[in-house]
Amino acid sequence: STVYEAAFRVWRGDAAGGGLTDFAVEVHDGEVVLDVVHRIQATVANDLAVRWNCKAGKCGSCSAEVNGRPRLLCMTRMSVFSREETITITPLRAFPVIRDLVTDVSFNYAKAREVASFVPPPGVAAGAYRMRQEDVERSQEFRKCIECFLCQDTCHVVRDHEENKTAFAGPRFLMRVAELDMHPLDAAAETGVERSVTAQDDHGLGYCNITKCCTEVCPEHIRITDNALIPLKERAVDRKYDPLVWLGSRIRRR
Ligand code: SF4
Ligand code: F3S
Ligand code: FES
Repeated sequence: STVYEAAFRVWRGDAAGGGLTDFAVEVHDGEVVLDVVHRIQATVANDLAVRWNCKAGKCGSCSAEVNGRPRLLCMTRMSVFSREETITITPLRAFPVIRDLVTDVSFNYAKAREVASFVPPPGVAAGAYRMRQEDVERSQEFRKCIECFLCQDTCHVVRDHEENKTAFAGPRFLMRVAELDMHPLDAAAETGVERSVTAQDDHGLGYCNITKCCTEVCPEHIRITDNALIPLKERAVDRKYDPLVWLGSRIRRR
């Protein structure tokens, strides 16, 4: 048959506390976890809070945890689970709960604001910039980010360590710093913002011990660790301890 009944366990509650509620719910062929959550909402728990928008893996809204693993609810097929298994859905653990499956992700917006924006090259008119294709392509991968914050949720530096949140921007925003650091036209260094050094001093790059959990959960398959964090760490070491490398890079930039 193409319809079966699945056992779901969904966290319900708010900032004051909560717990898991069991639901026996119908599953149809080809459905994703979000479809089933919507069925629970439509039938037995009308006030169940869940955030979603696109149902196509592109808006980054439906992030939650399925069996303890950070996932997009709309991109997690029911067919990956056995029919007998109980499927547990909980809100993102690293962020404060608002209600049920909805968390307050404002930590991430605060971290985004801490990254100094792109500085246009001095003396070049807007629209007159030129970049080599390989430089365009290098950052293209990072621009696929849908800001689902699954990487931010899974990174052990903050996952169970609220105290690290002040100092650590998380993989998504360290990746943003790396992207700007690789940008051949970013002139932040000329204004005293050496990206790779601020990554260490202001954004907590040193907390990352390259466990790669961020890369594993990224729904856009961005190679966050290998292509952003490790190169950023290498440059940070060069720039910080070898003034000649730093000076060399500043001369080459002109
Ligand atoms: Fe989500 Fe990947 Fe962007 Fe992190 S880097 S916020 S996991 S899309
Ligand atoms: Fe965290 Fe990713 Fe580094 S999971 S420790 S930011 S490699
Ligand atoms: Fe948009 Fe899931 S609803 S990514």
